[in-house]
Amino acid sequence: MLVRLSFCLACVVSMIPLARAGEKSGVMAPYTKRTLIAHRGASAYAPEHTLPAYRLALEQGADFVEPDLQITQDGVLVCLHDSRLERTTDVASRFPDRFRMEGGKKVWPVVDFKLAEIKTLDAGIRKDKKFAGTRVPTLQEMIDLVKGKAGIIPETKGPELYAARGFDMGKMLMDVLRSNGLDRPGADARTPVIIQSFSLESLKKLRQEQGCKLPLVYLFGTANGLETAEWLKKLKETADGIAPRKTVIHDHPELIRLAHEQGMSVTVWTCNEQQKGRFASVQAEMQHLLDLGVDAIFTDNPDQFPRK
Ligand code: G3P
Ligand code: CA
Repeated sequence: MLVRLSFCLACVVSMIPLARAGEKSGVMAPYTKRTLIAHRGASAYAPEHTLPAYRLALEQGADFVEPDLQITQDGVLVCLHDSRLERTTDVASRFPDRFRMEGGKKVWPVVDFKLAEIKTLDAGIRKDKKFAGTRVPTLQEMIDLVKGKAGIIPETKGPELYAARGFDMGKMLMDVLRSNGLDRPGADARTPVIIQSFSLESLKKLRQEQGCKLPLVYLFGTANGLETAEWLKKLKETADGIAPRKTVIHDHPELIRLAHEQGMSVTVWTCNEQQKGRFASVQAEMQHLLDLGVDAIFTDNPDQFPRK
């Protein structure tokens, strides 16, 4: 009897370090495995935030596809990183008189254009001639492509900017997700949804005003000394995970343990061939970050994500 009890105790004790090791190197909810997020789609190879980029991300095995969100003048969520159209489209030549002057430069804000106008723009040609004629997709078109094939991780971009124009981006996002049956955790096992934002305020509003139960992750770009257990504990009142720029993790890898101890996931951005720093390849950098214990990585090069 005593021998059997000792044996059981030994088993339990021997499992503790394994569980701890699993926590340290493993994966924190909402992720179920080390997770590949296609940043703006497979944006190294196809024009960012276009259906070809999202389609290629799926072909390259992305677990999640990222749409950044902006709002048109007539209140439609579209997939664009910038609040302006001129970097990624031919708006300057299609609508030469519709600019505003900002900081001494001509700019063409998304919110100054109706969806029908934006749909006339070429969002592919600036990447490569072979993508000529590619259009800016709506969030709905992105969902239609990705639903059932991968997760979706929308980012609310500039929610304060749009609030000043009378739009509640968080509400609009939840309305679209609800109409697609994606507004609750587990609603579609093949299409998990996580919402990300640099605006902690917008994440708070999603929880408190929209009753959003989806996982929320907080984006930030610099380590400002606040990344402590106390800061994370407070942050956890609003967000389920942190999403620092990768350099924050390179400089402060202990942040992964601190976040995991709070039950928060760690997502990093953005790995690509152009900005691989001291690493020999984007793949080597991603492997290093995974070895440190991050749960998920945004990359422009989904095909280079190290799968074990
Ligand atoms: O959302 C993660 C990452 O995409 C943040 O950077 O500027 O590409 O949206 P950005
Ligand atoms: Ca983003």
